[in-house]
Amino acid sequence: MAQLWGGRFQKQTDKAAYEFNASIRFDKRLYRQDIRGSIAHVTMLAKQGIIAVAEKDQIITALKGICEDIEKSVIVADEKYEDIHSLVEANLIERIGDVGKKLHTGRSRNDQVALDMRMYVRDEVDEVSGLLTKLLTTILRIMEENTDTYMPGFTHLQKAQPVTLAHHFGAYFEMFRRDNDRLKDIKMRMNQCPLGAGALAGTTYDLDREYTAKLLDFDGPGLNSMDCVSDRDYLIEFLGALSLIMMHLSRFSEEIIIWNSNEYRFIEIDDGFSTGSSIMPQKKNPDIAELVRGKTGRVYGALMALLTTMKGIPLAYNKDMQEDKELSFDAMDNTKACLLLFEGMLSTMTFNKDNMRKSAMGGFTNATDVADYLVRKGVPFRDAHSISGRLVITCIEKGICLDELSLDEYKKESECFEDDIYEAISLETCVNKRQTLGAPSPDSMKKVMERYREYLKA
Ligand code: ARG
Repeated sequence: MAQLWGGRFQKQTDKAAYEFNASIRFDKRLYRQDIRGSIAHVTMLAKQGIIAVAEKDQIITALKGICEDIEKSVIVADEKYEDIHSLVEANLIERIGDVGKKLHTGRSRNDQVALDMRMYVRDEVDEVSGLLTKLLTTILRIMEENTDTYMPGFTHLQKAQPVTLAHHFGAYFEMFRRDNDRLKDIKMRMNQCPLGAGALAGTTYDLDREYTAKLLDFDGPGLNSMDCVSDRDYLIEFLGALSLIMMHLSRFSEEIIIWNSNEYRFIEIDDGFSTGSSIMPQKKNPDIAELVRGKTGRVYGALMALLTTMKGIPLAYNKDMQEDKELSFDAMDNTKACLLLFEGMLSTMTFNKDNMRKSAMGGFTNATDVADYLVRKGVPFRDAHSISGRLVITCIEKGICLDELSLDEYKKESECFEDDIYEAISLETCVNKRQTLGAPSPDSMKKVMERYREYLKA
């Protein structure tokens, strides 16, 4: 057991207690951040004359060697180390002896782990943002190709009014764009360096915290040492952002599952992104979309777990906070995997435009437009709504759609109907006339997509 704190103890830690306490199993992935933080720390210590320049150089060379050896698995991060900080320090002392023992001058594992985790999350924010950008690019590409792919828009999962595939996907562009902007916002707030806070009350050494913050690409040092070691808000914000991304991916997945069903057949998922059944030969299942939908729960779980962990913790550091890692790592890994796979599935799927169009033709999606037609002829909207409703009943009885109803039948309900009713309620008219900004007409969509292109360029 490589422990950093043996002095005060007269007995070995109980084996089960040691294992219960150890975090190396999951915090080993912080090795790069840990070593980078240590290099910045000793660079500052030497600049301040707290250690000699030659000592600093020796420590940095050894730290870089340790990093390489971890990468090459020459150093194995196993349970003989309590955590990643102990692993690095123990190996440093093994390599360069007493000089290595100076690394931890003016530092605690409390500010060290706060730093490591913050730097790790900062990189994760960038990675997630990259994946979101890729997804947004694919969504925009599909939108551009489908401004006149007609499909029904739904409310209550019942056909409501006709829209286009471009318009439907545009809603998801908005969601993922907000997610991406949220990440930028989190990054701006979290970019404060905790290093130099010590255990909780700073140190008596003359540390230059501005300098370490700069070396590690932070906007500046955190201004309260107790908060520096005990703040996990940024992580909760990030888990909140990941939860929203997953919620959006899950809704999108649900639609893909519905659209892929035998009843809808709006889309065909590429063979590369679907799976078969071990017993039913005809099956081609949307497992990726189902897994994305399913994994949403565990990401929410991580958010709820950390909120709950933090709610009763007195200042400053408490070991409960070690629980911030495992579930968060799981949430980050899974959200990234979901974004990656979802984009792959989306970019390879094909759209059955005929089925979408047929579906948009049924379900009386143009009933509102029949009412609007009458309004244009001077009928009050409430009356027009009622007339259109009665025409729908006639159609249901005859098993036809509004486009197929004879002019005689129309005139039975209102003398205002003329031959131009058919033009007025055609699928094309219904969509193309909806020209308000944000509506599905190809003209409106073109204006919106121009802004999306600019967003992605920026
Ligand atoms: N493994 C610990 C964590 O993740 C590191 C900090 C340990 N600090 C302490 N005072 N025991 O939180």
